[in-house]
Amino acid sequence: MPVSLSLRARSAHGQPISELMARALANPRLISLAAGFVDSATLPQAETRQAFQELLSETLAAQQALQYGTTIGYTPLREAILERFQAEEGSHAADLHVDRVVLTAGSNQLLHLVTETLLDPGDIVLCSAPSYFVYLGLLRNLGVRAVGVDCDERGILPDALDEQLDRLAHAGQLARVKALYLVSYCDNPRGVSLSAERRRRVMDICLNSRYRPPLHVIDDLAYRELQLSGERAPSLFHFDPTGQQTILAGTFSKSFSPGMRIGWGILPRELVSPVCHQKGNIDFGSPNLNQHLMHRVLQLGLFDAHVQRLRETYERKLAVTVQAAQASLASLPGVRWIVPDGGLYVWLELPPSVPSGLDGQLFHRAIERGVLYVPGEYCYPDEGASKQRNTIRLSFGVPSPAAITEGIAALGDAIADVMA
Ligand SMILES: Cc1ncc(COP(=O)(O)O)c(C=O)c1O
Repeated sequence: MPVSLSLRARSAHGQPISELMARALANPRLISLAAGFVDSATLPQAETRQAFQELLSETLAAQQALQYGTTIGYTPLREAILERFQAEEGSHAADLHVDRVVLTAGSNQLLHLVTETLLDPGDIVLCSAPSYFVYLGLLRNLGVRAVGVDCDERGILPDALDEQLDRLAHAGQLARVKALYLVSYCDNPRGVSLSAERRRRVMDICLNSRYRPPLHVIDDLAYRELQLSGERAPSLFHFDPTGQQTILAGTFSKSFSPGMRIGWGILPRELVSPVCHQKGNIDFGSPNLNQHLMHRVLQLGLFDAHVQRLRETYERKLAVTVQAAQASLASLPGVRWIVPDGGLYVWLELPPSVPSGLDGQLFHRAIERGVLYVPGEYCYPDEGASKQRNTIRLSFGVPSPAAITEGIAALGDAIADVMA
């Protein structure tokens, strides 16, 4: 029977990555350098077991964990997150209060709630180009316009941000610009972290009083713990003197377990209730058991040692990825890559004559050669900075070092085939 779908459902498109994942699953011999998953071998089985056993062996704690929780989330975990954040960020974060910490089912939910709370259809979020494609899909779904701002190899260009804002002002659209979204550490898709100086300049622009309503800055910290090189700059919040324009979106997905799916936000005071109202009407609280479990993990001191092991694993895998690129791609004219500061991704640029998309020759050739990647074009906002179709996101999270080497060699062969 034909279903009568809502306007939103009719205008929604699935995530392009779903199609890629289906291909990977359909052919287990394909080496997937596409998925942004963490390395399964690093998942914290022993730590989770220990925390789980302790939690469930105490009757009162177990009863609390197995019951519904509150919309805003389990307070001891919120306190622990805040304490960690304050210890890392120092004095500016010192007067933050736990009332501003909200727990969600992954940081994607936090991004969703915040976006729905701040923006109406037709409003604008500025994003670096390229940007995290799941968030771009979320914006499309909500009818929000994503306008891309140019980047160089060190992230978003403050001058380009200023110019984009000027263009929008000339077009009479400044009042529709409600937020800037950045993944400021080891971003997805390029693995690049913003320097302290760039953070300061970006924030100076966004906090400029000409923006009415104020332009919120969403700092997505998903890969903050996985920065492997360079000095870790403070978050964008540090450069927000009132601390009321920056929204921090964190997660334990990359640093501990995506299966737990625990995200958190530190929000401007005025946003906490509106965001919780949205959340209350959706799920009135994220899975409580996971929050209690994560709190145990932190309490038992199991988290930091785990992150340290993760960093060692990814450091090795990143080195293998860069070596493989050097061995298999460096001799191909016009092929270059960014060596990331950490995270899970390496961004490749091909000659402009070699598009990487699903309709192009290269994608099919790569699959024939046994390797799957994410075409970079998915990572570009629909408006603003132009889409670079000759780009590729590679992930070194899931495959073994041997598979990374083999996959990148296969990709090199596919590129050579297409360029011949
Ligand atoms: C930049 C970025 N933000 C947020 C997320 C979502 O993480 P979560 O599992 O917390 O929803 C991801 C996941 O890949 C990501 O890459």
